[in-house]
Order: sequence, then C-alpha cells, then structure tokens
Amino acid sequence: MAIIDRRGLIEHLHGQFTLDWQGLHGITHWARVRANGLMLARQNAANRHVLELFAFFHDARRLSEHGDAGHGERGAELAAQLRGRYFEATSAEMDLLHHACARHSDGLTTGDITVLTCWDADRLDLERVGATPRALCTDAAKNSANQLKARARARAWMARPR
Ligand SMILES: [Fe+2]
Repeated sequence: MAIIDRRGLIEHLHGQFTLDWQGLHGITHWARVRANGLMLARQNAANRHVLELFAFFHDARRLSEHGDAGHGERGAELAAQLRGRYFEATSAEMDLLHHACARHSDGLTTGDITVLTCWDADRLDLERVGATPRALCTDAAKNSANQLKARARARAWMARPR
C-alpha cells in the first residue's frame, strides 16, 4: 500500500543530511523533483509512489554538491533501511526505487518507465543551475509544456531572496 509518513521521513532525512538543506541538492530540489515526477506520471504509466520516494531519497545521502560517486546507491540503501518505519512499498517498488536512485547520475536513457520518469523528474530540475535538461527519456519530459512548468519551478528557486 502506498503509504508515506512524509513529516517523519523528512525530519529523519533532514537530521542525517550533511549539505545545505536549502541548497542545490536539498529539500527544495526534492520538492521540485517530486512535483516534476508527479506531473510526468499523469501522462504515462509510471508508479507515483516510487516517484515520490525517489524524490526524497535520491540525493538524501549526498556528501558533496559536486561529483559524489556512490551517493545514489547510499540513498537507495537508506530507503531500504527506512522501509516499514516511514513508508511501505512492495518488493517490486523497492527494486525500481533502488535502481532509479543508484543509477540516476549515470546519464542512462533506457529502462522501465517508472525509472525513466524518476530520472527525467531530476534532470528537468537542471534548470536550477542554468543548464538545459539533457538525456531526457520519456515523451512526457520532452513535452514543451511540461518543460516550461519545470523551468518555472526551478527559476522561482533561482530568484529566491538570499
Ligand atoms: Fe537530484
């Protein structure tokens, strides 16, 4: 059953996060990846529960804002540890989540639609660093209207008061 204790999970993830919580790979990025993913999933058959969990976990164990080999795998391992405590997921969903997190930085473009949609949700937020999203996988992510919405989310963060 698709249950997430979002408050508890986010508090836990915040407590172990070592980077800037409001920074490039922090909570606002996760929120935009979640929004992007759920937007894309309205137009394809991606698993919305996995998309949401991916948003929370894929960068949760980053140790650097830049090159950080293994951070996706560490995020996947954390998800496995917290399953049953803050969320429920089937074994099939955990397999998808693990693969999506572990390989999300590798530039891959083929695979399961849920995994591809996770990667696209993350890549669409490259706009936050002024980069054009690349290596998009799904038709939904290649849709210009969806790209405009993702861009607006990213640019709102770029224009935030500091
Ligand atoms: Fe990310």
